[in-house]
Amino acid sequence: MTPSDDAPALAVFAPNSLPAQASPDLALQARYQSLRAASLALAAPLSPEDQQVQSMPDASPVKWHLAHVTWFFETFLLKPWLPDYEVFDPNYVYLFNSYYEAVGARHPRPARGLLTRPSLAGVLAYRAHVDAGMCRLLGAPLGRGVRDLVTLGLAHEEQHQELILTDILNLFAASPLKPAYDAGRRQPSAGGTGGFVDLPGGIVRVGAGDQDFAFDNETPLHEVLLRPYRLADRLVTNREWQAFMEDGGYRRHEFWLSDAWARVQAEGWEAPLYWERHDDGWWAMTLAGLAPVEADAPVTHVSFFEAAAFAAWVGKRLPTEAEWEHAAAARPGAFAQMFGEVWQWTASAYTPHPGFAPASGAVGEYNAKFMVGQMVLKGAARATPAGHSRPSYRNFFYPHQRWMFAGLRLASDAPAAEGSEAFQFDVLTGLAAARRRLPAKWFYDAAGSALFERICAEPEYYPTRQETALLASIAPELAACIPAGATLVELGSGASVKTRLLLDAAPQLAAYAPVDISETAVAAAAAAIARDYPALRVSPVVADFTRTWGAVGRTDGLVGFFPGSTIGNFTPDDAVELMRGVHERLGPGGLFIVGIDLAKDEATLTAAYNDAAGVTAAFNLNILARINRELGGDFDLTGFAHRAVWNRMEGRVEMHLESLRPQTVTVARSHFSFVRGETIHTESSYKHTLEGFEALAQRAGWRVARSWTSAAPAVAVVLLTPA
Ligand SMILES: C[S@@+](CC[C@H](N)C(=O)[O-])C[C@H]1O[C@@H](n2cnc3c(N)ncnc32)[C@H](O)[C@@H]1O
Repeated sequence: MTPSDDAPALAVFAPNSLPAQASPDLALQARYQSLRAASLALAAPLSPEDQQVQSMPDASPVKWHLAHVTWFFETFLLKPWLPDYEVFDPNYVYLFNSYYEAVGARHPRPARGLLTRPSLAGVLAYRAHVDAGMCRLLGAPLGRGVRDLVTLGLAHEEQHQELILTDILNLFAASPLKPAYDAGRRQPSAGGTGGFVDLPGGIVRVGAGDQDFAFDNETPLHEVLLRPYRLADRLVTNREWQAFMEDGGYRRHEFWLSDAWARVQAEGWEAPLYWERHDDGWWAMTLAGLAPVEADAPVTHVSFFEAAAFAAWVGKRLPTEAEWEHAAAARPGAFAQMFGEVWQWTASAYTPHPGFAPASGAVGEYNAKFMVGQMVLKGAARATPAGHSRPSYRNFFYPHQRWMFAGLRLASDAPAAEGSEAFQFDVLTGLAAARRRLPAKWFYDAAGSALFERICAEPEYYPTRQETALLASIAPELAACIPAGATLVELGSGASVKTRLLLDAAPQLAAYAPVDISETAVAAAAAAIARDYPALRVSPVVADFTRTWGAVGRTDGLVGFFPGSTIGNFTPDDAVELMRGVHERLGPGGLFIVGIDLAKDEATLTAAYNDAAGVTAAFNLNILARINRELGGDFDLTGFAHRAVWNRMEGRVEMHLESLRPQTVTVARSHFSFVRGETIHTESSYKHTLEGFEALAQRAGWRVARSWTSAAPAVAVVLLTPA
């Protein structure tokens, strides 16, 4: 519904050239009659004078609403589609056109209340005339396009039914008598627990597709990337709003957007619209008349400006439209008050969905031209006709407006997902990227870790052999740097094989904390080390070491150990970030031992990642098997092939999985189409020079205290100390 007029958006409808039905659509006929009668029922408690007056430019007289929705049927259905239809009064095009430029000039909106002619009786006669015409039209078999236009006209009239209540409340609130529209009318009520529901995010589908009916602004169905988020299970209450007010919410600029603060000053806002301070507390004007503000009911009649300020005050934020919509569609049972209490402001501007195309013809004016400067509201209000809204529905108003039934629901960011949710998030975002990729850390499930151990034994894979030999020869020198009682923290410890060289040379180590994302690998390795080094305290940590080291705290005497050239899997910038984090965790006395692979001839490099036995290929493909197993994917492993290439520009060996044919893969209900030859980039192994690596270490606050280089094919071990 749009404030700048009165009606909405446009439906998606098929061309009129589609064949007509064989018989009249009786269901549509019945819907037409009951919906038109409902509009009159809404006006029934109102006197002709009530229906004449316009309380402000944004609102319209009830009489005008009743005529305008009728004009819609006359203009878009009866004139073009009912042969012999006689126009009721040609002047009404000018009087009751809302804002269709294509239909011609119109009476100015702020002056609608001045239209004392036609009288209310005249408008009711106009309605009866058009209803008779519609009865004839709907009594014949109709094409799909015409039926869709009728459905649109009915949805349009439902929006005006809500506007009738919205506008009459504004009128009655201006009256010193504070009349009740309906003294028995139920007001929005309490619900929910006040807690927040966690949603994992990922790539989700929002918008409207091929469903029964949707306004054009809801289309098309499209994908959106959501970070993990939290959404409140209920609306913000009057009690909470009063706390905001009592804390000086309306007087403290720090919570308000600049335009919002200007509005607060200019209009002297100090409470929601319709609130009045009485001796016994706050009262508010409602459709049931003036009543004490009910503490646990949702706050209503607040602008976007106020909603955003409240969220800032409470340290939260408004949900985006996509967050709200996804939560409503995916977890409908988890939230109270999503529909049918008050509309809920979102943080999203009302702009076209990607791929949006306005409906053609005059009706196409309804949505597209309002897509600037307004904010989206989701849900539905008590005043919204039942069944009118849906998760994809987009209501929109200007950020300062507050006469409509609008409140808010809070949201916040959630911590990044962990475990299987993080895996799903990375897979869905990686496969949706323009250059598809999967982070290498997800190689290491039980099968992947076992395959990596086999790679280490392949003749072409020199890094493990060379690094092991180098560590064996320098272990006494490294051990001499390790203080007594220190803890060795190993990042990406895998099978903890090389670790033994250090443990043997440095019996002064008191504890060992292997940190690895592969639960099976770290558990087996830690058990074996604990058995073979009974004096050592062994505390394994299953974690993504870029995020946490579990309980391994920042204490004195921590020695970091990062062999296996795993640091080569990080881009230079990410490697700096990682080393900076390690620096922070190890503290000022920390030592960091890092294994790196050195740049060398291309043949040696590519052979290492293309072993003749095909173990690296199996390791690479295993990530697809893991996606199938853990995320219900349907990758055909015979449709992809392992590729490892040297990227000279980037200084890295890249592993890819190449699609051998055009194919579509489904993971967690998302579809990904591959053309032949398209690849998923699964791993980078940067090859460093000692100078280049030293520069990275320095950016992260480290100094290279010593380095050792193996025989060819050369790898290096570097001892870093805080700069
Ligand atoms: C190349 S292997 C090296 C294993 C062992 N350090 C070695 O030198 O033989 C990489 C290891 O790091 C682990 N790993 C990779 N990325 C990780 C991450 N982000 N967090 C924790 N472990 C990770 C893998 O599970 C695997 O065990």
